Amino acid sequence: MSRYEEAYAAWRNDPEGWWLEAARGIDWACPPSRAFDPSLGLYGRWFPDGRLNTCHNALDRHVAAGRGAQAALIYDSPMTGRKERISYAALQGRVARLAGALAARGIGRGERVIIYMPMVPEAVIAMLACARLGAIHSVVFGGFAAAELAARIEDATPKAIISASCGLEPGRIVAYKPLLDAAIGMAAHKPDFCLILQREQARCEMIPGRDLDYAEVEAAGAPHPCVEVAATDPLYILYTSGTTGKPKGILRDNGGHAVALHRSMSMIYGMAAGEAFWAASDVGWVVGHSYIVYAPLLAGCTSILYEGKPVGTPDPGAFWRVCAEHGVKLLFTAPTAIRAIKKEDPEGRHLARHDLSKLEALYLAGERCDPPTAEWAAEKLGKPVVDHWWQTETGWPITAGFREFGLFPPRPGAGGKPTPGFEVRVLDAAGQELPRGREGALVVKLPLPPGCAPTLWNADARYREAYLSTFPGHYDTSDAGMIDEEGFVWVMGRTDDIINVAGHRLSTGAMEEVLASHRDVAECAVVGAADALKGQVPVGLVVLKAGVNREEAEVARELVALVRERIGPVAAFKDARVVPRLPKTRSGKILRATIRKIADGQAYSVPPTIDDPAILEEIAAVLGRAHA
Ligand code: COA
Ligand code: AMP
Repeated sequence: MSRYEEAYAAWRNDPEGWWLEAARGIDWACPPSRAFDPSLGLYGRWFPDGRLNTCHNALDRHVAAGRGAQAALIYDSPMTGRKERISYAALQGRVARLAGALAARGIGRGERVIIYMPMVPEAVIAMLACARLGAIHSVVFGGFAAAELAARIEDATPKAIISASCGLEPGRIVAYKPLLDAAIGMAAHKPDFCLILQREQARCEMIPGRDLDYAEVEAAGAPHPCVEVAATDPLYILYTSGTTGKPKGILRDNGGHAVALHRSMSMIYGMAAGEAFWAASDVGWVVGHSYIVYAPLLAGCTSILYEGKPVGTPDPGAFWRVCAEHGVKLLFTAPTAIRAIKKEDPEGRHLARHDLSKLEALYLAGERCDPPTAEWAAEKLGKPVVDHWWQTETGWPITAGFREFGLFPPRPGAGGKPTPGFEVRVLDAAGQELPRGREGALVVKLPLPPGCAPTLWNADARYREAYLSTFPGHYDTSDAGMIDEEGFVWVMGRTDDIINVAGHRLSTGAMEEVLASHRDVAECAVVGAADALKGQVPVGLVVLKAGVNREEAEVARELVALVRERIGPVAAFKDARVVPRLPKTRSGKILRATIRKIADGQAYSVPPTIDDPAILEEIAAVLGRAHA
């Protein structure tokens, strides 16, 4: 038996004991007497009688143990030229003061706070300040439009919003404040107050009586101690794309999250306290929550907070420069970032200029990694490249390679093997388990391990319906794939309308809702077409209403602008085409999978249920003509 197999078997033989042992890595105000109670919640709850504070575990306990002077965060911003080292003691001080200021304004346990911020230390401080108070944060990614922010304000009903005057994208300043004001204007719920970080790149007007200056408020706050909460109390809500325009509020608890993330740092990434870890993502995504903020700090590591891009800030050597300068031991990013670097520096000339002797491995996730990208990185770096599979819902990897147990030999295209805690199965449509090598629905046998979402914010029924109802006794990942003879899990693609664009999770259904709202559109379909850089990009096909006789290019421009305005630039929706009709089954279902194949230039078979096969040629002509 390999060390991995031994560890996996140890968990399977005694999950209760395994997780109670893992829980010892966390400081508890009241240690849990049992790991799991199957009678609670939708599928059971973890550490039901444990009590703790996540911020204490991320900061205070390290300061108390003598790590106060060690860097907790290294902020490196090629966008502004700023670099800042924030020690554990300094971060604890700032977080405690902000927590005090929030508490003085009525933020307490269970209260929601929305954080709409770029990649600045204050975003991390705001998250940890909420955790310190037992308040529930909800971070909204900066690339979303006002309407998306409004939907989150409406659902989370926050008492406060913490934001900044602007974000910085290459070549443009993203003014956050007008988006924030518009979102608050749109939402029925209004926050009591907003804290606004004034960035010198673009200061903003404040609304008297509602907006307060973040820096002044933090500086004046009286340090607040950590508030003890139940392990099952929520730590945060993170909205993610669902199959409709209404985002799903993924809920994370305190106890299971702390235990799972802390355990993952050594088990998966081979990290120990004092070492530098870099997740090149954004705090607005789950990777940012888990592996920029919580996991590295829970483990006493130094976490890199990078405000920049893989290329263009200033060159494709940016990632390697950061790794070399800060002694990064493990880099985690999305395959799309590596594709972007490879495209601009195929020979690895930039890479060769940096001392990467401290870097031990590159981990990839967020989308399927195409083998040439993994192979290129492995060859140029001369280090292991490990693909691992996870979702916002799970909060940490379902499958991975495990540095603690010794990495598996490279298998580009596969996502590793199941993490102890996850029992992954492949089922057919009828819920029967498929043999090794056969592709079907990837599911996880219940219960999900600690760290995974116990439910959706205020939406138990939606959680049950979205994840638990299709295959009773299992969590449906909505990914399709297979497990090969040696137990590697291959994730092939989503079974729903979610697409992955540059590692960003988006719903084509939400884009269709926007297109359908245009006055000239009768019906539409959005599919994810393969893209060499971003993995997938959305392509919209629209049928105009009878009698509309407008320039097609003009309508297309309006549709592109509409998606940007309603969902945001992150949707990367740049391609809308007018078609005479959409291919449908006789019962009226749009044949999106066939459209996708046509968009990708792949061979397609004519579905037997199609109402009129000639439509496929019309679609191919429109897509082909525009491609030419
Ligand atoms: N705030 C405001 N706008 C943002 C934004 C943010 N935080 N993040 C992205 N955008 C904008 C971009 O500026 C771009 O706008 P544009 O249409 O005006 O050019 C648009 O959203 C699309 O962004 P993106 O899809 O990221 O494309 P890009 O061309 O700017 O960059 C990559 C391409 C590959 C370099 C970039 O996507 C990348 O670094 N990806 C890694 C993703 C990642 O880390 N994912 C997390 C999972 S691990
Ligand atoms: P998100 O919730 O944004 O993390 O997106 C989760 C989805 O991204 C998964 O359901 C998969 O479809 C895809 N994904 C994430 N990691 C991988 C991976 N390593 N391989 C294949 N697909 C992945």
